[in-house]
Amino acid sequence: MKKDNLQKQDPEIAGFIKEELQRRKDGLEMIPSENHTSLAVLEALGSILTDKYSEGYPGKRYYAGNDIIDKVENLAIERVKQAFLVPHANVQPLSGSPANTAVYLAVCELGEVIMGQNLADGGHLTHGAKGTFSSKFYKSVPYYVEQDGSIDFKKVMKIAKENKPKLIWVGASAYPKLFPFKEMAEIADEVGAYLVADIAHVAGLVIAGAHPNPAPYVHIITTTTHKTLRGPRGAIVMVTQKGLDKDPDLAKKIDKAVFPAGVQAGPHNHQTAAIAVALKEAMTPEFKEYGHQVVKNAKVLAEALTEKGVKIVSGGTENHLMLLDLTAYGKGHGVFLEEALERAGITANKNTVPQDPSSPFYPSGVRLGTPAITTRGMKEKDMKKIAEWIVRALQEVKDYRLLEDKKERVLQIKQFKKDILNNQVLKDIQKEIKEFCRKFPLPY
Ligand SMILES: Cc1ncc(COP(=O)(O)O)c(C=O)c1O
Repeated sequence: MKKDNLQKQDPEIAGFIKEELQRRKDGLEMIPSENHTSLAVLEALGSILTDKYSEGYPGKRYYAGNDIIDKVENLAIERVKQAFLVPHANVQPLSGSPANTAVYLAVCELGEVIMGQNLADGGHLTHGAKGTFSSKFYKSVPYYVEQDGSIDFKKVMKIAKENKPKLIWVGASAYPKLFPFKEMAEIADEVGAYLVADIAHVAGLVIAGAHPNPAPYVHIITTTTHKTLRGPRGAIVMVTQKGLDKDPDLAKKIDKAVFPAGVQAGPHNHQTAAIAVALKEAMTPEFKEYGHQVVKNAKVLAEALTEKGVKIVSGGTENHLMLLDLTAYGKGHGVFLEEALERAGITANKNTVPQDPSSPFYPSGVRLGTPAITTRGMKEKDMKKIAEWIVRALQEVKDYRLLEDKKERVLQIKQFKKDILNNQVLKDIQKEIKEFCRKFPLPY
């Protein structure tokens, strides 16, 4: 197949892709849920497999012509089982949220009680957050993270005993500690609930051995494939031996909830192939080293920031991400630092901190992660440099205070974004980062 077709046929889109590539080359991607995939993953993702319809599962399709697609999907499934040590895997969910939706459909009746980590304390939207299907269709009773970033398991046990949930989530989107699979299993087992680990953020670390595997403790595991796992966008639902012991039909229920009764029809076969490729990569010794380096880098970055006076939730990190607690600079300060960092060439995201005095729209923290910059080959000494740039950027915005009045606040942020464009220090940092990034090529 010839290349450059896109450039000839649709130069506008081709141009945007080039622009995005340049943006990535020149800056540091530090959103913890992002990564840079390999060329092999991208090739599978951009392959002809996208054309095929294959509703159903290997050997049981609703369309003809799927013998080869069956081989792709079976290989992906086998690799999941090998990588996570589970007896059953469904690799079809189109993304993380549909995967989590399938779990509800498989094990809960409408209106039953579910428990998940509170959204503002780092939990995910699909774990029972207000305003989402997961709290409209089920009775959501959240558990909370203490101000010091820890979970008080006695409190969680009390909530569980009082509310008798059918399903409990362990795992989150912004939690800088190891996920407490064992502690949450004690609670779920005590009240007879299904325990589901959502390891979207740490799946790659689990395969690399840089984070514990939840398989011995939980009944179901869900994950996205595009974060630390470094694959295409996509997701997997796994059933563990503990899950099959609790309910021998659990695997069938999960499969049925994904298709045909639940969240989707035809699987994305190009995506399944790319997931298989990512899993093969993730089981190599190089990836093992990568996973450990991600955590080492995060720890060094957190320490360097702490030394320079930046407050980090829970005092550091045990995984790939950290939360800068900016409450000392007033409520909602994450808005200012996120923007300043972007101007300086660091892409991170504003985020709530546990018991945030502000709201998720104007949170008081910033979430930073090391998966993508580690893929580019950055190491501990580079983290110290990055910490310096972050602190310099923070100096530039530390005196801004978010206004209380909502209308005035919108205008204030608009003006702030304009002002910050002319900030010479941020421009200087951006130049330095651009120069620095040349030493760390992207995989594509
Ligand atoms: C813990 C967790 N679960 C699920 C998801 C949802 O994934 P997706 O964005 O693919 O729907 C995310 C996404 O950030 C996540 O952090």
